[in-house]
Amino acid sequence: MNKLALVTGGTRGIGAEISRHLKAAGRVVVASYAGNDAAAAAFAEETGIAVKKFDAGSFEACETAVAEITAEFGTIEILVNNAGITRDGTLPKMSRDMWDAVIDTNLGSCFNLCKLTFDGMRAAKFGRIVNIGSINGQAGQYGQVNYAAAKSGIHGFTKALAQEGARFGITCNAIAPGYVDTDMVRAVPPDVLAKIIARIPVGRLGHADDIARGVLFLTADNADFVTGSTLSINGGQHMY
Ligand code: CAA
Repeated sequence: MNKLALVTGGTRGIGAEISRHLKAAGRVVVASYAGNDAAAAAFAEETGIAVKKFDAGSFEACETAVAEITAEFGTIEILVNNAGITRDGTLPKMSRDMWDAVIDTNLGSCFNLCKLTFDGMRAAKFGRIVNIGSINGQAGQYGQVNYAAAKSGIHGFTKALAQEGARFGITCNAIAPGYVDTDMVRAVPPDVLAKIIARIPVGRLGHADDIARGVLFLTADNADFVTGSTLSINGGQHMY
């Protein structure tokens, strides 16, 4: 049961809840973060979960981090690519930097960390990869061509890697959360958010643990027949 899990963006929001759930399920967890030292320190203090600061969008930073984590804790057998940012704006107002930042962090991080952990999982004959996509990668969202492209890319990436990993005991699945009550969603203008919530049949924003429970299902030791799937957890907002 004591398999090692790396959760990117794992100290805040949905990622923090994923980290907590994996630890409660008996996993050894390392939660990565990129910027907010105070939140990471408070999270580590509260949970006893190890935290590691690196930019998941940088291949070099991931290379160093994976080497250090492996040396300290062992093989990463469970990988949750949760790190994500938004840089919303309509296309005319979107700069190339806003595009690059979202593609690198949200999609590039999946490539970086899957590539750097795949060999270890293959040697262990066990791997569980969960990539956190989004309803907005499935349905699109006004003001998010960058984010929708990155998240949609995650869904394709997941299905391709699932085919490569299957014969090595490595599963690769995606979760597509809807609008979940986190700092990221609270940053949406209130009038826009009110309209979005009005379109959620369940009638509320998601909670981070609604997503974390999905990660537990997909990373279970006996979940080896579930691969290449996308689990939509969105209160019925988009049935896909
Ligand atoms: N559909 C159609 N038209 C829309 C629209 C929509 N969804 N939203 C805005 N518009 C229209 C406006 O009515 C306005 O029209 P007029 O000029 O005729 O009045 C025009 O577009 C410009 O709108 P804004 O003045 O709001 O433009 P802006 O550039 O200031 O802001 C925006 C645009 C950044 C996209 C802002 O509306 C916004 O932040 N929207 C929310 C985007 C969103 O949902 N992001 C999700 C973040 S959470 C997340 O991503 C997590 C996850 O996975 C779910």
